[in-house]
Amino acid sequence: MPSSAEALAGKLRIDDLEPQGRRVLLRADLNLPVQDGVVTDMTRVTAMLPTLRTLLAAGAAVVVMSHRGRPNGETPEEFSMAPVAEAMRLVLGHEVILLEDCIGDKVETAVQALVPGDVALLENLRCHPGETANDAEFACRLASLADLYVDDAFGAVHRAHASIIGVPPLVEVAAVGHLLELEVQMLSRCLDEPAKPFVLVAGGAKVSDKLDALANLMPLVDRLIIGGAMANTVLTYQGIDMGNSRIEEDAIELAAVLLECAELNGVEILLPYDFVVAADLGDAASARVVRQVPATTMVFDIGPESIERFASAIADAQTVLWNGPMGVFEIDELAGGTQGIGSAIADVAGRGGISIVGGGDTAAAVSAAGLSSSMTHVSTGGGATLDLLSGSVLPGIVALTDRCA
Ligand code: 3PG
Repeated sequence: MPSSAEALAGKLRIDDLEPQGRRVLLRADLNLPVQDGVVTDMTRVTAMLPTLRTLLAAGAAVVVMSHRGRPNGETPEEFSMAPVAEAMRLVLGHEVILLEDCIGDKVETAVQALVPGDVALLENLRCHPGETANDAEFACRLASLADLYVDDAFGAVHRAHASIIGVPPLVEVAAVGHLLELEVQMLSRCLDEPAKPFVLVAGGAKVSDKLDALANLMPLVDRLIIGGAMANTVLTYQGIDMGNSRIEEDAIELAAVLLECAELNGVEILLPYDFVVAADLGDAASARVVRQVPATTMVFDIGPESIERFASAIADAQTVLWNGPMGVFEIDELAGGTQGIGSAIADVAGRGGISIVGGGDTAAAVSAAGLSSSMTHVSTGGGATLDLLSGSVLPGIVALTDRCA
């Protein structure tokens, strides 16, 4: 089976298109966080701009489509793309016409009236059940809106949904966008003869979400650092009392599989040595550092000795891949571990190594620490990043037009 990078290399790219005077359906991942009707993180809008600008500069009319949230086929206002349209206007500095739905007669009429240089945004794809069901009729109606299709939705390319795999075979040409190409190339640097030493830093809540990706990477990795709530589960498996901490009870056996896989591949494993604990999250102001977790407390971050040990295990790395925060970085008192490890990883890029950050929470943590621009690459994907790293060929890539077709 080809890797995602090999599959992508066989597909037409945006630069192969001749979009002048044509309508282009651009699948983006504009699943953005919104608070009180306002987008709170513009990263994914900024990331798709090169593709949007390429199409506009080439004289296309662009119809952008995306899902937002999981409205399960319903159309509640809270899932509207209106805040996204506003975010796009701001970042692009260009009018974005928000259409009232993503399919239907009115949408078709509005799209036919677009002229080169226009940008329209369809309403939330997932407000129709046909999107997640990859319904053929729904895909047909979407495809009828344009002549050409570009996939730049890296964060959603692992979903076998109508707008990702149903539409491409129904248009004249379906090509790879700049962001999709960049993401696959950068993440593949961890899979394709990574520069050594290669250090993998895993954190966040769940072992189960990451096991496939971690197992796939083990033959390539020199050191595996485990932090975050994930470490609680692994340490519990090792017989260490983690007090009241969050444990993924049904993944304790998976922790055993992970450790065994690391050992079989001769990977050095580093686990936290000390911890920042509190009675609960509301008690963060009285958080303290311990070596042994008291029965009445929960672990919310790694402690200073662990930060030091982890940072020195990162110091000589030529490649670092980081997925998952070390603690509750949203709360100042519990952010030290994530910030400390983030700085150590940023230093790797600063001295010519490669630092790749993947996963929504980790990207948010890096951004909160002001370190995004110090990394080699911060992925816009969550599940898509993990699927790619697990060696899966992403279905959205397979669906695009072959170079030789
Ligand atoms: C994401 O934010 O990870 C993508 O938009 C995919 O969203 P989903 O997990 O709801 O499919």
